[in-house]
Amino acid sequence: MKNILVLGASGSLAKVVITVLLDNPEIKLTLFSRHITELIPLTHERVSVVKGDVMDLAQLEQAMQGQDIVYANLAGELELMAKNVVQAMAKQNIKRLIWISSMGIYDETETDHGSILDPYRLSAKVIEESKLDYTLIRPAWFTNGIEVDYKLTRKGEAFQGDQVSRRSIAALIDKLIQKPDCAIGESLGIAKV
Ligand SMILES: NC(=O)c1ccc[n+]([C@@H]2O[C@H](COP(=O)([O-])OP(=O)(O)OC[C@H]3O[C@@H](n4cnc5c(N)ncnc54)[C@H](OP(=O)(O)O)[C@@H]3O)[C@@H](O)[C@H]2O)c1
Repeated sequence: MKNILVLGASGSLAKVVITVLLDNPEIKLTLFSRHITELIPLTHERVSVVKGDVMDLAQLEQAMQGQDIVYANLAGELELMAKNVVQAMAKQNIKRLIWISSMGIYDETETDHGSILDPYRLSAKVIEESKLDYTLIRPAWFTNGIEVDYKLTRKGEAFQGDQVSRRSIAALIDKLIQKPDCAIGESLGIAKV
């Protein structure tokens, strides 16, 4: 069994990812969120739910106990959240982190997204400077399409595309969880081209 902690489990992307991950009988999920009623539809024998706030380091450390991989699907004060996640993972001796960021944080897109992406830039820097085995994912605009159709771009490459289905991002995360040695220390842009 592989234990995965999902931070921001009530998020629009996380809900799709969770459904995909549960197809693998070798996976157990701990869903962490401030609003756990949102998680009732995700009830499953391999799912446990923790009500908590990422800003509360003690709650975060508690939720990290016994986890193998952390998948962070957060929005808000991302720089502080990233610092707490890095600190809590170090304390619990967990190495593998999958962190959802955004396209545009390295000015790698044709559009200038401006300061709205600052929390994404600052949190990415925290993760990249950590000693964790991280993968940053930089998605294009999410769609509800059911297709799995995506192209990855690496840090330093121009971003391609401007949309991607949540289902495609879920497929990538599923792959990374099945092969956790893949894409360590990478920052992957994902879009349908
Ligand atoms: N929409 C797009 O097209 C797009 C494109 C690229 C990147 N992104 C980014 O990708 C990320 C994931 O997207 P999404 O649509 O899944 O986001 P979302 O629906 O806004 O979900 C964000 C999650 O963060 C959780 N959260 C916020 N503050 C928290 C805290 N203090 N403690 C614990 N949990 C907290 C929220 O849960 P609770 O409130 O229940 O705690 C929520 O589940 C976001 O950062 C988003 O901006 C989005």
